[in-house]
Amino acid sequence: MNRFQNPYAPGAGTRPPELAGRRHEIEDFEVLLAKARRAAPERSMLITGLRGVGKTVLLNEFDRLAGDSDFFTNFREIPPDATTFRTTTTEICRKVLLAMSRREQLKAAAQAALGVLKSFSLVARVKDVAGMEWSVGIEPVPGKADSGDLSEDLADLFIELGVVARAHQTGVALFLDEVQNLSAEDLSALIMALHRVNQKSMPVIVVAAGLPQLPRLAAEAQSYAERLFRFVRLGALPAEAAAEAIELPASRLGADYEPDALEAILDASGRYPYFLQEWGSKVWDIAPGPDFTLEDVQVAGVEVEAALDQGFFAVRAERATETERKLMRAMAWLGEGPYRWAQVVDAFGGDLKTCSVLTDRLLKKGLVYRPRHAELDFTVPHFAPFIRRHYPTLRR
Ligand SMILES: Nc1ncnc2c1ncn2[C@@H]1O[C@H](COP(=O)(O)OP(=O)(O)OP(=O)(O)O)[C@@H](O)[C@H]1O
Ligand SMILES: [Mg+2]
Repeated sequence: MNRFQNPYAPGAGTRPPELAGRRHEIEDFEVLLAKARRAAPERSMLITGLRGVGKTVLLNEFDRLAGDSDFFTNFREIPPDATTFRTTTTEICRKVLLAMSRREQLKAAAQAALGVLKSFSLVARVKDVAGMEWSVGIEPVPGKADSGDLSEDLADLFIELGVVARAHQTGVALFLDEVQNLSAEDLSALIMALHRVNQKSMPVIVVAAGLPQLPRLAAEAQSYAERLFRFVRLGALPAEAAAEAIELPASRLGADYEPDALEAILDASGRYPYFLQEWGSKVWDIAPGPDFTLEDVQVAGVEVEAALDQGFFAVRAERATETERKLMRAMAWLGEGPYRWAQVVDAFGGDLKTCSVLTDRLLKKGLVYRPRHAELDFTVPHFAPFIRRHYPTLRR
């Protein structure tokens, strides 16, 4: 087929040609928006799932919907490095308030709130506060959002945003991606702040996304987290949605899959969104079309596997140091996860201390997670077979 017309979108956060199987989540979010606008209490959403299941794409879609509903929005990926959360939230709120102050009716209130934000940022001694674009004449407002207690200060700040938005029948929607990168303290502060904002019925929504351990981290941070968030767990798509993700983009361009060809793709991809895009894309590029056959899929399979091995999997495996990779090898050669911690230690050679240190580092790098207490698994689907294909077992 014509490669220039290839509709599929393998990548990170790249909008798929067909956003399959997300009707319920989108409807839930629309309800959340409508309720937030009326300042009626509703649980926010916490989206979790393994790598490549479509968390970022869904968060982006929510961002777009919120924007269409005239909400003020901001999307932020929490970096794994040491920037403080106060600095990150300063940036987020500053962007929102500057957008608000560009509207004539909101200008005065937004400028006042910028003063509160400035006090908030001064607590962190944010290095480049002076360099930030504050618009002229913004003075800090002492006594607001500057107590030094992040949860209280964040709540003050979110309430400021909410008050400005509410006066003009709109709201604020903030989207945080890779939230597992927050420290336990920061996550706890965020949850406590949202709790207070909820109690005050403010039109401020925070939708968070991250790896599967998040609900547990959130619950550990604050026991009422589950009453504050609706947990949305993304994984492999149901068969019907996976078929739509593959078939619809092609059929819109006049190409079709034979049933056994489609079946083979759903099987080999495990119906994971990222893998589906990669399969669709490779079949499109190599097959003459316009009808895709099982043979096309088999031929493309070699290329898909090579592309995943050299790209998707290799990039992640190389994020680990050689010693960290040794632990991943010990895991992978046990078979499919989740792995019992005691078994991993044993397979690694029994050195508990080294194992713990390496696990912590892999957790920080987002390569493994703890599905349950004393268990470990890879965050990347189909990662164990990749490791087994490319790295020999530790015990030879
Ligand atoms: N609902 C969907 N239907 C079809 N394809 C999808 C869907 N959601 C995501 N995809 C595709 O899956 C791939 C991965 O999406 P995305 O980057 O959002 O995943 P992620 O969960 O954020 O992964 P990571 O944890 O690595 O950040 C992209 O190529 C995207 O186009
Ligand atoms: Mg993502």
